[in-house]
Order: sequence, then C-alpha cells, then structure tokens
Amino acid sequence: MSAAPAAAGPLLDVSGLHVELVIDGRPQPVIHDVSLQIRAGEAVGLVGESGSGKSMTARAIARLLPAGAVVSGGISFAGRPVLDMGARDLRGYRTDGIAMIFQDPRAHTNPVRRIGDFLTEALRTSKGVREDEAKRRAVATLAEVGIEDGQRRLRQFPHELSGGLLQRVMIAAALLAEPQLLLADEPTTALDVTTQSEVMAILDELRRERGLAMLFITHDLELAAAVCDRTCVMYAGSIVEQQSSAGLNADPLHPYTAALLAARPRMDAATDRLAAIAGRPRSAFEAPEGCAFADRCPYHEPECTAEHQVLRPLGGGLVRCRRAEEIHADLRALSEKAGARG
Ligand SMILES: Nc1ncnc2c1ncn2[C@@H]1O[C@H](COP(=O)(O)OP(=O)(O)OP(=O)(O)O)[C@@H](O)[C@H]1O
Ligand SMILES: [Mg+2]
Repeated sequence: MSAAPAAAGPLLDVSGLHVELVIDGRPQPVIHDVSLQIRAGEAVGLVGESGSGKSMTARAIARLLPAGAVVSGGISFAGRPVLDMGARDLRGYRTDGIAMIFQDPRAHTNPVRRIGDFLTEALRTSKGVREDEAKRRAVATLAEVGIEDGQRRLRQFPHELSGGLLQRVMIAAALLAEPQLLLADEPTTALDVTTQSEVMAILDELRRERGLAMLFITHDLELAAAVCDRTCVMYAGSIVEQQSSAGLNADPLHPYTAALLAARPRMDAATDRLAAIAGRPRSAFEAPEGCAFADRCPYHEPECTAEHQVLRPLGGGLVRCRRAEEIHADLRALSEKAGARG
C-alpha cells in the first residue's frame, strides 16, 4: 500500500463507507455508501434526523464503533489508511490527528477523576509533557474557552460543574492535544439555549483561530449552515445531498433537504404550528432498494425505489435523486417560501 503525500489530497477522505452492526442478533447495515472529504481547516456539517447514521459515521472515522461492527470502504487521514492502522498508529491518530466532542459530556468523563487529570492525561501519557507544564497548558486552554479560574477547576470533579462548563472543559481537552480534525457530535444539543450559543461561539472561534478542520454533526440545518463551509445531508445511512452551506439553504437539490428547510420552526404568528415531515425517519437496515426517502417524498415514482440511486454531481453540489433536475425549480420555490416565513 502506498501512502499518498499528505498535502496533495484532503485531510480526511471517506469513500464508499459501509458499516454493519449487530442488531436483533444479526448484522444489519447502518451506514451505506458514505463518501465525504474534509480539507485541512475546513468545517463540514453532517445533518440528519435521529437514527440516520451521523454518530456511527463519526465513530467509524475515529475507529470507535461498537463491538461486532463490520466496516468496509476506505477512510484515509492525511493520506494514511485509518482502517489498516495498528494499535500504536491508532493511538497517535487519536491524539495528534483527531479529537472528538460528544453530545453528553458527563457520559464521557469519569465521575471519580478530577478535571485536572482528565485534561492533562493525553499530554502526559502520549506526548511526554511534564505534569506542571501540562497543568499550565490546561489552565491556559481553560481560559481560552472562557473558564478563568482554571487552577480551582482542575481540582474539581465533573459533578461539580454545570453541563455548559463541562462541555467547555471537553472542548479544552480536545484542543489541548492539538489535533488537525475535530469530530463534534451534537456538542450543544444537551445544553439550554443561551449556553448553547455561548459554547457554539467558543468552538467556532477557537476552531477558526487554530485552523482546525471539523466534522460538525447536528440535526439543525441552520446551525450547520452558520458554522460550516459545506454540509452533507444524511438519510437512512446515506448522504443524499452535499453542497456549500449557502447553496443548501437557498437552493436545495434533494426533496428531503427541502422538507427539512420547510420544517424549520419559525417565530411567526401566521404559522403557529410546526411543520413536520410526514412519515417517520428510517435507518439504513429498514431502507428499500433505491431511494430510502421515497415513502415520505411528494415527488416519488415507482422507479425511485426500483433502481439503486447514486450520489451524483448537479449544479455546485451532489445529489442522490433521479428526479433532481425536473423538480429543482419546485424545491427552490418551496425553500424560498419557507425562508420568507421567518
Ligand atoms: N450500539 C449499537 N448497536 C446496534 N445498533 C446501533 C448502536 N448504536 C446505534 N445503532 C443504530 O445505528 C443506526 C444509526 O445510529 P446513529 O447513532 O449513528 O444515529 P444518529 O444519526 O447519530 O442519531 P441521533 O440524532 O439520534 O444521535 C440507528 O439505527 C441506531 O439504532
Ligand atoms: Mg447521534
């Protein structure tokens, strides 16, 4: 296997990723044909409903899938094949390459270990940084995420911190190892609205300052558009559309994206109820051959489910819909109408 030069290609290159997990005692697909690239310093959004496979995509990239998972396809990071990495390379990859931030910070900290140990562990064990220097860096990074009394915080336990503070600690931990790519899996979903926007602003600012690439996972299309250069929309384990975030909002290519845009909650007296997408979301293992969104799609025809649909270029983006050209004007009008409501 020849390692491609790191500077030539994208930082992260996922191609034809397929993941099966053991569900109800047998292997079933949860990720189907996912391809996405992230360049150094670029922020890419991954948006979709619950169960669509967003977290499993991030966990496959981090090689943190549940036991029994079967993975095929390619994942390369800076030209190195991630799926072939041995234990030693994997440790390095998870320290210098990537860092992960999760939705529920409490579930990812040890309740009986102090914040200081949590923050300095990777620096001490993987990078050989001395304890006093690791603590100094931890306090400086805590200040960067808006925690001024770092010395005191290092001595505290996770339960002594609010959810918002703990998520800032997680961001500090992710930044301390100086990775090249952040995998942020719904990092603000568990927080209240005010804390959400504070934490999001810190994450966005520090990421840009440090030139960090990010895969930002959310179910909120608008949030993804606000912080990401490009956004991928996921449905039933597959990416159904990929575009610049601005393009996606103004000019969606897939009926599912248009439906998500139309379902955005609005503070509008004239429309006092939330528009929902009819039907329920699916997981990849429940999806039929062909388009998985067909049973919820107003534009579907028998051919949509009879034929395998591929992600193909259209305009400036990529779309997985055989009728994308025909319905394009319709979808644009729909999203304009949804935008005008706001
Ligand atoms: N540990 C597991 N074992 C078996 N199946 C799982 C496991 N975790 C998730 N799944 C299944 O994998 C599919 C994808 O789940 P995933 O967690 O990636 O969804 P998601 O898009 O992150 O959803 P959410 O928005 O709820 O976080 C779902 O059908 C889910 O039920
Ligand atoms: Mg998830």
